[in-house]
Amino acid sequence: MKRVLLLFFLLAVQSMAYAERGELLYETHCQACHGPEMHQRSRRIVTDWGTLLAQVQRWESNINLNWSQEEITDVAHYLNERYYGFSEPGHHGEQIDHVQSKPQ
Ligand code: HEC
Repeated sequence: MKRVLLLFFLLAVQSMAYAERGELLYETHCQACHGPEMHQRSRRIVTDWGTLLAQVQRWESNINLNWSQEEITDVAHYLNERYYGFSEPGHHGEQIDHVQSKPQ
């Protein structure tokens, strides 16, 4: 029982760490143009986890940040936790089938 609890605890902490890194990246690179209102507007283009990932990737490449797939996922994860609340398939980084691989 203790072990199970510990496992849950570690997973929760890990997922918080991902979201925190995503938050930092977002605040540093993305917030100059938009804050919360962009993610809460009524006619938003993000409608599920896949389109959220696609938009983060689109902006990231628009402004040439050269993020890794993991950083893209972190920011999407942060935005999802904070604003969107979609269910995320798999855990961190495993939902590659939704995203086209970034050209290296
Ligand atoms: C140069 C200004 C600018 C920067 C920098 C920018 N964005 Fe945006 N973003 C916009 C504008 C304008 C829109 C709405 C119009 C559109 O989608 O083309 C938008 C829309 C979005 C949306 C869609 C919101 C919705 O639900 O419809 C997401 C998600 C998003 N941006 C994420 C990001 C992320 C992540 C970054 C940082 C990597 C970023 N943006 C950087 C200007 C910017």
